[in-house]
Amino acid sequence: MKTRKLGLSGLEVSAIGLGCMGMSDFYGHKDDQSSTDTLLKALDIGINFWDTADMYGPHTNEQLLGKVLKESGRRNDVVLATKFGIKRDDEGQFLGVSGHPDYVRQSCEDSLKRLGVDHIDLYYQHRMDSTVPIEDTVGAMADLVKEGKIRHIGLSEANAGLLRRANTVHPITALQSEYSLWTRELEDEVLPTCRELGISPVAYSPLGRGFLTGTYRNREAFEENDWRLTNPRFSEENFQRNLALVERVEELAESKGCTTAQLALAWLLHQQPDLVPIPGTRKVSRLEENAGAVEITLSNEELAKIMQDFPKEMVQGSRYPEMAMRLLNQ
Ligand SMILES: NC(=O)c1ccc[n+]([C@@H]2O[C@H](COP(=O)([O-])OP(=O)(O)OC[C@H]3O[C@@H](n4cnc5c(N)ncnc54)[C@H](OP(=O)(O)O)[C@@H]3O)[C@@H](O)[C@H]2O)c1
Repeated sequence: MKTRKLGLSGLEVSAIGLGCMGMSDFYGHKDDQSSTDTLLKALDIGINFWDTADMYGPHTNEQLLGKVLKESGRRNDVVLATKFGIKRDDEGQFLGVSGHPDYVRQSCEDSLKRLGVDHIDLYYQHRMDSTVPIEDTVGAMADLVKEGKIRHIGLSEANAGLLRRANTVHPITALQSEYSLWTRELEDEVLPTCRELGISPVAYSPLGRGFLTGTYRNREAFEENDWRLTNPRFSEENFQRNLALVERVEELAESKGCTTAQLALAWLLHQQPDLVPIPGTRKVSRLEENAGAVEITLSNEELAKIMQDFPKEMVQGSRYPEMAMRLLNQ
């Protein structure tokens, strides 16, 4: 597996990470055995950058990773990233966001316990809290660095102004935000700011929550409780129109002898050398398929063709339901 360096800190991770959210939440039924196999296989093939958050489950995703780390004894093989800041009750109901310094500290202690580790390699604020100055939140995270509880600091879905302010308090290693062929808002202001400040983009939902793989051809493909059925891009009205865009890149993937998922990830890897996509899967076969994206080279002509075939203005529907949209890019 190829590696990439995040931020100015020298943190080295696999060029493709592993998103663990869908193993416990949002995308239908759980299969802990298959997820465990996937996590272990990831380490065997060098995918060492695992991504979780306290709110996935809630809590059960960190517990799953903690169990796998404990039973395998492979903690030192993993660059472990988790997040705090989105509050949910035990039933999963959304309770708001918090960047309060006391909340930062308590969340970190809780995550360390659930993960069964003595430090977190990369700790992100999951959503920005407009009621707490970013300097206070990042200040509390910087204290955790001094105490050795976390190694590096990241933000998720922060706008360029907040990134700049946060970075004056403590170097920000990574910005984790949604970035893929169908979600490209970052390109205007946030990515140039990341490049200027030496902050690496970590692209979440790089496969468009699975849509960009072409595997899902209609809404019936999802289980009844799948969160994607509430996402505007997957609505009755928008699904087929968005699928028509995917079909165009499917043709290019076929001509290159790769899968559509691999093409979508390779496109991201070509955007800048310190960007790391973190596709999520519960299945070993898909993990291996996604890992293969690092071997794909796209020429300038092919990159231009992808942009031509998949114009961002043609994507139908916002990337989150309305309430969740309000928490983004603050
Ligand atoms: N910071 C944030 O706010 C935020 C928000 C969302 C996600 N994330 C992080 O980003 C990670 C990745 O994002 P994501 O899971 O939302 O979306 P994604 O990686 O774009 O897509 C995941 C979905 O695609 C399917 N899939 C994966 N590889 C595939 C392949 N090769 N062919 C066909 N289907 C494939 C998976 O199904 P199977 O599991 O059945 O394979 C899953 O349903 C998450 O796990 C989480 O850690 C962060």
